[in-house]
Amino acid sequence: MPSHDTPPRRKTADELRSARWFAPDDFRSFGHRSRMNQMGYAAADYAGKPVIAIINTWSDLNQCHAHFKQRVEDVKRGVLQAGGFPVELPALSLSESKVKPTTMLYRNFLAMETEELIRSHPVDGVVLMGGCDKTTPALLLGATSAGVPAIYVPAGPMLRGNWHGRVLGSGSDAFKYWDERRAGAISDKDWNEMEVGIARSYGVCMTMGTAATMTALAEAIGMTLPGASSIPAADSNHIRMCAAAGRRAVDMVWEDLTPSRIQTEGAFRNAITVAMAMGCSTNAVIHLLAMARRAAHAIGLDDFDRASRTVPVIANIRPSGDRYLMEDFYYAGGLPGLMLRLKPFLDLDQLTVTGRPWSEELAEAEVYNDDVIRPLDNPIYAEGALAVLRGNLAPDGCVMKPSAAAPHLLRHTGPALVFDNYPDLKATIDRDDLDVTPEHVLVLRNAGPLGGPGMPEWGMLPIPKKLVRQGVRDMVRISDARMSGTSYGACILHVSPESYVGGPLALVRTGDLISVDVPSRSISLEVDEAELERRRAALVPPAPRYGRGYGWMFSRHIAQADKGCDFDFLQTDFGPPVGEPDI
Ligand code: FES
Ligand code: MG
Repeated sequence: MPSHDTPPRRKTADELRSARWFAPDDFRSFGHRSRMNQMGYAAADYAGKPVIAIINTWSDLNQCHAHFKQRVEDVKRGVLQAGGFPVELPALSLSESKVKPTTMLYRNFLAMETEELIRSHPVDGVVLMGGCDKTTPALLLGATSAGVPAIYVPAGPMLRGNWHGRVLGSGSDAFKYWDERRAGAISDKDWNEMEVGIARSYGVCMTMGTAATMTALAEAIGMTLPGASSIPAADSNHIRMCAAAGRRAVDMVWEDLTPSRIQTEGAFRNAITVAMAMGCSTNAVIHLLAMARRAAHAIGLDDFDRASRTVPVIANIRPSGDRYLMEDFYYAGGLPGLMLRLKPFLDLDQLTVTGRPWSEELAEAEVYNDDVIRPLDNPIYAEGALAVLRGNLAPDGCVMKPSAAAPHLLRHTGPALVFDNYPDLKATIDRDDLDVTPEHVLVLRNAGPLGGPGMPEWGMLPIPKKLVRQGVRDMVRISDARMSGTSYGACILHVSPESYVGGPLALVRTGDLISVDVPSRSISLEVDEAELERRRAALVPPAPRYGRGYGWMFSRHIAQADKGCDFDFLQTDFGPPVGEPDI
């Protein structure tokens, strides 16, 4: 039986975790209280009240969280209204567009920081403020392991981009018009005008990229207020949602509504269904695997593939959809509208942070635009967003997004054109003498969790310039990298095990035939096993990338993509529970 069938009794003030710091009549607590006085807080401000940590991933270099400096005040207002005491704890911001080589290198760093911030401070509950790509899984991973009641405040999507009256979508249109520019079809003036028109407000990418995907999945799992993830960042509803989340966090403490009561296996299965129907970012696979495993559920790549065969893509949001953006999705009914349409596939007994099950939360949900949130019998793509392929080139699986690929490439055999690493690709892809045809399969290796390092979003390999000029806009591309959720094309990603650790991708040579058959979920390198064995024996292991620091630790402990790229020592079953600090 799910544990939420028997809700625990309400906590008393004596039982608050923060009371261990503040309540005793001893020397240590004298110190804690006197230092609260030092900040201007009297006992009446905090004693006997839930202390709510607000973990804020604001920074001056994170465009998507620029409004968090104000929004944190709205969360605090809500906490105070409900009788709690808010404390802001800043954390690593992970700006997707600025942090190199990739924010994915640091997802687990923020997860660890979140877990330890919560554990080490006198806090009873937590409001997590994130949204830009990796911040959502990172904050939730940390909160899962810390185990105190937690609610997620998503940053919300930015406004639609605009150029000469044309709508521009984050990422997707940048990629599209960049190809036009490489083909000589876009002037410098137009390109510069796009630069000032594509990102018009604070908030996360407003295509169905990783940010919109992961915040929606946080909501589907039950970790945000219902409806929260779709609210545009610049909409005043977003301000009110922040205050409401602050209020709710206080009550969650009294109710002891911990992540483990919300993040059930059923909640993760719902999230997989929602991901498929949304035309989700391929990154969702890695993050959901990590999150589900942290929550101690046995969910694997095959669960995604099973869902993809039954759940259609019904959110008509770019890049899988042809037209709309997150702002349109919000006006069409947002995530509750989408979940209403998905009712036959969902387990609506699962709880949300409200303490109520989805069956109650969806009672008033509606869909206001059938073209944006399609009925199940009129999907934009009849199968789910992702396919998991396996074969001798990817024994532990790889992922692609058929809904965003040219249909003629879903069954394809062609000769490989191999790039050993990203600098090699960058240096040669646009050469006029490159020996390449539209039938070639572009292969990039040494771009995985260890090889990248951090699996950078290099998986949408550029189409060679000479082919772009001929009008070619999609080709089969294979790598152990990830790709941006705003990317598109016949890109096969996350090949596991990665080439850097000797996975079969390391054995491919230019000219080898590669066959891809998405409907039958297979990928094969058409080279006989004896020859592959010879090549394997001749492989020279690459030099370690890091000799010290965080990168060194990362290299020793990172899991492969099919397991979610968590650190082994952060896994829930790695050792005995950490327990509370001695005070
Ligand atoms: Fe922040 Fe896209 S750059 S969500
Ligand atoms: Mg992204």
